[in-house]
Amino acid sequence: MWWKIAVVSCLLIGASQITETAENDSKVVCYYDSRAFVREGLGKVTLADIEPGLGQCTHLVIGFASINEQKRVVSLNPLRDLDHGNRLYREATFLRSKFPKLKVLLGIGYDVSGDPEKWLQMLETSTARIAFINSAYDLIKTYAFDGIDLAFEFPKIKVKKQRGSVGSFFYSIKKAVGAAGKPVDAKFEEHREEFTSLIRELKNSFRHDGYLLSFTLNPNVNSSLYLDVPQIINNIDWVNIAAFDVQTPLRNKEEADYAAPLYKPSERNPELNIDFQVTDLLARGVPTSKIVVGIPTFARAWKIEDGATSTGVPPLKADGPTDEGIESKQEGLFSYKEVCGMLTNPQNKDLKGERGPVRKVGDPSKRFTPYGFRLPDKDGKFGLWMAYEDPDSAGNKAAYVRGKNLGGVSIMDLTYDDFRGTCTGDKFPILKSAKYRLM
Ligand SMILES: *[C@@H]1O[C@H](CO)[C@@H](O)[C@H](O)[C@H]1NC(C)=O
Ligand SMILES: *[C@@H]1O[C@H](CO)[C@@H](O)[C@H](O)[C@H]1NC(C)=O
Repeated sequence: MWWKIAVVSCLLIGASQITETAENDSKVVCYYDSRAFVREGLGKVTLADIEPGLGQCTHLVIGFASINEQKRVVSLNPLRDLDHGNRLYREATFLRSKFPKLKVLLGIGYDVSGDPEKWLQMLETSTARIAFINSAYDLIKTYAFDGIDLAFEFPKIKVKKQRGSVGSFFYSIKKAVGAAGKPVDAKFEEHREEFTSLIRELKNSFRHDGYLLSFTLNPNVNSSLYLDVPQIINNIDWVNIAAFDVQTPLRNKEEADYAAPLYKPSERNPELNIDFQVTDLLARGVPTSKIVVGIPTFARAWKIEDGATSTGVPPLKADGPTDEGIESKQEGLFSYKEVCGMLTNPQNKDLKGERGPVRKVGDPSKRFTPYGFRLPDKDGKFGLWMAYEDPDSAGNKAAYVRGKNLGGVSIMDLTYDDFRGTCTGDKFPILKSAKYRLM
């Protein structure tokens, strides 16, 4: 009998130590989107480029693997990631030799497949779930990751206009029902149960090795449809809210607006802001220490043509995404470094056209984020409006996290922060500002 007691007390000591460190240390979860490894020109970002920031991070997520037709977890670029190629995965986990406290996770999902149907099919049969789990396990074991961050690609809510031309507000409170009256996912209840099973099965297969399992809530996913919090929360190490892109130039082509507000700007959908998401998850039973708030390092940018009436105050009428950023290589998106180069400065203040200055409008209320705009010229060209994050707004969000005693922040992602220190000479200003205000 004595040996049973000894085993039990060992387990208890082990468990209480784990909880203590988990509750005390705020997390700074840093994302590296490996698509940046193959971006051309100045936008290329290698692991060596992000090293100067890693001392600030508790976790590094290497994004993003996806699933194939057989529902197996696979690298989207084996020649970049795997050992027979550029060995990115190997080198990522090897970073622990320089940063011994860093945990390195494999990110799976986010929006890389853009095919929620495939992900839902994976949930629907136990065979497919097993294929997913076993292949995830094999990858992390082979490359010595510390676990996975699962950014499950659930269907997104339908796009709604915030405001009509006459100043009335269009968002409807029709729940999961879209504009056409159809729900985004008629089988969401089954999918919720199956997702609970997936999380339980994943955790079971990870337990022996002590692998971490975090869940990332993707932008514009209605978590109340899919997360049975009491059933899953003990099997998840933390929930990372990708708290941005509530409005994007690809989803909301005709209306430019804040993309990652902390609180509700007046007369907007009350659910599309960070405070709502945090409060909602807390109310549904996620412990404070398990909530991580994602801070973007990029701007969302729209073309605007009609400048005559524009004071820049959002929401305003837009004409789709801006062209690809020279570094970001994505439409409607600029890295923070690109943003700081576009805002009015001594070099661009007298320029015209596409290099003309973008006027900065700060956010003294600390409730939203800053934005910038450039009115169109007399031919209606070169107008743009962008919502962006800067070190101040990232610091405000971290202060919010600290004030509510949440688990920490995530930086999404390092490759769009100013990793070269071009803006002010300081490298990773958004990451550093968030970390500083968290402690
Ligand atoms: C951890 O948190 C507990 C309870 O809040 C506190 O008493 C303890 O001093 C903290 N330990 C460290 C190392 O911060
Ligand atoms: C999410 O779904 C719930 C019902 O489960 C609904 O009340 C809520 O309005 C939905 N949120 C959004 C943003 O669509």
